[in-house]
Amino acid sequence: MDANAFAAFQLFVIGILVNAWMMEGLSTTEAPRMATCNESHLLWEMEVCGEFFKKDMAHIEPQYWCNLTHFISEYHLFTLCTETKSQRINCYWPNPLAQSYIIRIHKHFFSNCTMEHVLWVDPPDETLTILILVPVFLTLAMIGLVVWCSKRSDLLA
Ligand SMILES: *[C@@H]1O[C@H](CO)[C@@H](O)[C@H](O)[C@H]1NC(C)=O
Ligand SMILES: *[C@@H]1O[C@H](CO)[C@@H](O)[C@H](O)[C@H]1NC(C)=O
Ligand SMILES: *[C@@H]1O[C@H](CO)[C@@H](O)[C@H](O)[C@H]1NC(C)=O
Repeated sequence: MDANAFAAFQLFVIGILVNAWMMEGLSTTEAPRMATCNESHLLWEMEVCGEFFKKDMAHIEPQYWCNLTHFISEYHLFTLCTETKSQRINCYWPNPLAQSYIIRIHKHFFSNCTMEHVLWVDPPDETLTILILVPVFLTLAMIGLVVWCSKRSDLLA
């Protein structure tokens, strides 16, 4: 995969994971909807999306499987499928289950795209989480600092 496309893809995936993390935060305050999410049903729907994606990918020559340009629309359909199906059965999207299913799909299709070591395959999930959370916490810390400073300047003014 060419370096720019690869970087864009990584950003895309990281974006999904960061969203998932933020939704998890939200879900603690909106528990009732989460309670109606049937996880075995959700897993089944994810498998259905995965089967669609496998069929779509079968139409693409395997030598292009690492080239984002060739499979971005199929990949987009796949994530859209997991999103609409999750929401239809009252599950949040992204959710940890869909997320781990998407990572499983990545391992299946993109495990050989490791010229520069694929970020979501090589480090264990904990490392990945840390890689994502560090910038998120830095951002939150910066926001906190800005708020704190503006309060202080209010006091001083
Ligand atoms: C990916 O596919 C596009 C479109 O066919 C092509 O222009 C590009 O050179 C390919 N990139 C790589 C790294 O093969
Ligand atoms: C969850 O979904 C599965 C599969 O669709 C179904 O068999 C099961 O009865 C559901 N459980 C609840 C609590 O609705
Ligand atoms: C990855 O490479 C291995 C060994 O060459 C091969 O058996 C496997 O089918 C490949 N997987 C994909 C998804 O291309």
